[in-house]
Amino acid sequence: MPKPVFKHWCSALLLSLHGTLLAQSALAPLPASTPPMGWMSWNLLGDQVNERDLKAMADAMIASGMRKAGYDHLFIDDGWQGGRDETKQLIADPKKFPSGIKALADYLHARGLKLGIYSDAAPLTCAGYMGSLGFEDQDAKTFADWGVDFLKYDYCNAPPGTATAVARYRRMGEALANSGRTILYSICEWGDRQPWKWAAEVGGHLWRTTADIRDKWKKLPQESSGVGILDVYDINVELQSYAAPGRWNDADMLVVGLRGHAGPAALLGGAGASDIEYQSQFALWAMMHSPLYASNDLRRMSAATLRILGNTEVIALNQDPLGKAAVRVIHAPPWDVLVKPLANGDTAVAILNRADQAAAYSLPFEALGIQGAVPVRDLHAHKDLGRMAQWRGTLAGHETKLLRLRAAPRG
Ligand code: GLA
Repeated sequence: MPKPVFKHWCSALLLSLHGTLLAQSALAPLPASTPPMGWMSWNLLGDQVNERDLKAMADAMIASGMRKAGYDHLFIDDGWQGGRDETKQLIADPKKFPSGIKALADYLHARGLKLGIYSDAAPLTCAGYMGSLGFEDQDAKTFADWGVDFLKYDYCNAPPGTATAVARYRRMGEALANSGRTILYSICEWGDRQPWKWAAEVGGHLWRTTADIRDKWKKLPQESSGVGILDVYDINVELQSYAAPGRWNDADMLVVGLRGHAGPAALLGGAGASDIEYQSQFALWAMMHSPLYASNDLRRMSAATLRILGNTEVIALNQDPLGKAAVRVIHAPPWDVLVKPLANGDTAVAILNRADQAAAYSLPFEALGIQGAVPVRDLHAHKDLGRMAQWRGTLAGHETKLLRLRAAPRG
């Protein structure tokens, strides 16, 4: 009776195949299990990117200690493209990248870094360079061949409707999935079509939630456009329930250290922010599990900028394996309080003074569900504050106090 034997053999094969797949999925790390970190070219260089400056930036990322702190991607934004060759393959601008993108990827990989690249779901990108619409499979394969690890996929010059956007992003999501390489997929349509509701389904690992951030604290009443740190934060913080390992709300680049640098972030009122404001951006972005893309000149960083970007105690909140984005539990202007549980059972707490002037505050930890006096650490001062049942103090205007409590809320 060959049939039952065949049946057994078949089920044995299926079982072992199933086992292998299970074992593989247990082994393969989840892409973007924590938010990506690195340096993105747009705010500093605009579309004037080239391999010499990008290599120098990678070298600075290593020399400054940023790579060691967790910044492990170099993201080339718009402006690298040189059109298509006779086989329609996307090519880099030969003047900007005489050695080609693959050589740059090799350079980064040899130094423990990864490469991000940029394209657009339309014939042309935001800055008017070659886009990927109609060439998704070919471009995804090209990126994979070059050793690209991340794609930011923009939505300029594309129709506004949600259905078209979802279809175009799905198309590239499938192309990347079939490219033969793990390439993180960053969806950039500025939150206009509520991507937090569909981006993960089309293969996205992260999605922008707002318009481009400018180098400023907030949009002034007389300004009709140009969002700042507080404006982006107020939108992104409300989307906390959509974030999880492998799927993140992207609150756009850090403007830390730009100090009004002439470039895209300086437009629309982006005249620069203070170190207190930059420190707040970093703390809030870490608490929200946003990707951390530095965009300042890493070759010339002030001590204050490096202290903010290199604060490994803050980075640890952002890279916490539990992946629970902070909840804004108090929004009683001028005070915001964010709470975020951590994998080891600790609780991170951010207290933001939204006001322009200094103000005093007291936060009983009971209000967060934490009973009794608990050990508290100040993550900006790098100091243990001892056991406390509340935090009391004065914060400068726009300042964020960032605490780590050795305790979890009850219940
Ligand atoms: C859009 C994006 C920016 C940047 C530029 C490049 O504005 O939102 O982050 O990528 O395009 O042209």
